[in-house]
Amino acid sequence: TRFVRGVGYTTLFTVVSGTAAIMFYVYRERVPGAQLPFDKEKKTIVVLGTGWGATSLLKNIDTEDYNVVVVSPRNYFLFTPLLPSAAVGTLGIRSILQPIRYITRFKTRSVAVVEAQAEAVDPVNKTVTFSDTSDVKGLTSSTTIGYDYLVYAVGAETQTFGIPGVKENAVFMKELQDAENMQRRFMDCLETAAFPGQSKEEIERLLHVVVVGGGPTGIELSGELHDFLHEDLQSWYPELASSIKITLVEALPSVLPSFSKQLIDYTEKSFRERKMDVLVKTMVKEIKPTSVVLQMPDGTMQERPCGMVVWAGGNKGRQVTMDLMAQLPEEQTNKRGIMVDDYLRMVGAPSIFSIGDCTASSYAPTAQVASQQGAYLATVFKNLAKKEKLEAKLKVEGEGKGREVRANDAEVEATKKQLQRYEKALRPFHYTHQGSLAYIGSDKAISDLPFMNGNFASGGVMTYLFWRSVYLSSLFSFRNRMMVADDWIKTKMFGRDLSRE
Ligand code: FAD
Ligand code: NAI
Repeated sequence: TRFVRGVGYTTLFTVVSGTAAIMFYVYRERVPGAQLPFDKEKKTIVVLGTGWGATSLLKNIDTEDYNVVVVSPRNYFLFTPLLPSAAVGTLGIRSILQPIRYITRFKTRSVAVVEAQAEAVDPVNKTVTFSDTSDVKGLTSSTTIGYDYLVYAVGAETQTFGIPGVKENAVFMKELQDAENMQRRFMDCLETAAFPGQSKEEIERLLHVVVVGGGPTGIELSGELHDFLHEDLQSWYPELASSIKITLVEALPSVLPSFSKQLIDYTEKSFRERKMDVLVKTMVKEIKPTSVVLQMPDGTMQERPCGMVVWAGGNKGRQVTMDLMAQLPEEQTNKRGIMVDDYLRMVGAPSIFSIGDCTASSYAPTAQVASQQGAYLATVFKNLAKKEKLEAKLKVEGEGKGREVRANDAEVEATKKQLQRYEKALRPFHYTHQGSLAYIGSDKAISDLPFMNGNFASGGVMTYLFWRSVYLSSLFSFRNRMMVADDWIKTKMFGRDLSRE
């Protein structure tokens, strides 16, 4: 009985403390407190974007010393690594979004969030012009504001290389709307294939999905599509499932060029075993409404009928970024994006800090890089505020010097020393690579992790569990972690939703 009672108490303790912890986290995320108001005496930081870089900055920045204004066409943060999962319904789309006010409302000083798109930045007069690009507009829908510091984190857009038909006939995989479009289009293809009297050729065309780009986005999306087919469509569309075909097209000699060779081989083999067609050294030349034109490795052209093309061909700079760079032609000479110094200041415009995919650096355009840069900038601003306070103090002390020479000399020296300390504390940005992970379908993932000056490559089901735990813990809020975990359980129990919105 003592043992049974012991187990009972332990269980009770675990349940009570678990519930208390959950209630604490929920309360902490649900109930924002009072905030300091905007202060005209403080400097203003304007943050462009609510993606990985900007959100990491907003999470970490101390707003006590600054007025912060966030301008972004999205009033939420999108957790991109799980976008392919949301596109096939493994996760609910809202589970991977976090409204940005869930972060800014918890800052010491009130942060202004403006849902708008920056149209122009003037680095000389230090102003940003932005417009409300949403469907509903008020009497004012465009304005210009000044900044003391600008955090430029607008990301990138999908690169189409000017290939005919990409914009018109393919779906992308970058934004929330892309995932929704893909889901709708795929379900439409399925239901159209189920229409009575459809010919065999037409069914095969409608159910042929072509994924362009063997980078991590294309691979993860293909893996997710395959799961959808095997775990759900075979049950609910038994007459059509065998006609569904996925083709992955990559122009380079292999998929996933940034992963280690053994993982590339593992992924390609695993795809082929699951009857997914992997075409490497094959270039998409045109996308028509009902087919895709391919240049094969031997140079010949082939036209393959298909119902849906998903374009995951990489990134390019946004027009607003190109326009900003064009104002500094001497300094901004890299066509890939904004050039920054070691402290992430835009070369030629030191009041602008630029982070993430809109920059041209030696780092890959990844969430890992952008979020580390955002966190780094938060420390830069903290140090800058301290430095500026000390400089102001030094000025006052210097001015008072004539009157109280002795007392002031000591104070001035102490302030100077403090100032030097803060100047030293401003270290250049240093990126720490924590490894690369990608989901490849069928409950398998691959990972390349830095290990003892080398690399540890792994693939399979255990890596998949690791992948899930990493992404779950990387989500920015407890709320999102709960929602994603809940979706994973629901999908395992009940499968994915087949309704077409
Ligand atoms: P973004 O996150 O793209 O944010 C840009 C922000 O700027 C957005 O809020 C946008 O609305 C806003 N914006 C756009 N135009 C304007 C404007 N004119 N004015 C103001 N704001 C503007 N990386 C990884 O490390 N691991 C992964 O597993 C991973 N998976 C991915 C999966 C997918 C499907 C995709 C597409 C990318 C993935 N990435 C991953 C890459 C990662 O998402 C990007 O590197 C990261 O989003 C870059 O962050 P960012 O802040 O520079 O840009
Ligand atoms: P990417 O640039 O990595 O890959 C795009 C691929 O498309 C390239 O391999 C390119 O050769 C191919 N391509 C382009 N045009 C083509 C054409 N006409 N025909 C055939 N192939 C063509 O882009 P992706 O995958 O969107 O990734 C962007 C960034 O986001 C990368 O830095 C990536 O590392 C990161 N990312 C990381 C993920 C992860 O770590 N799990 C997941 C998704 C993205």
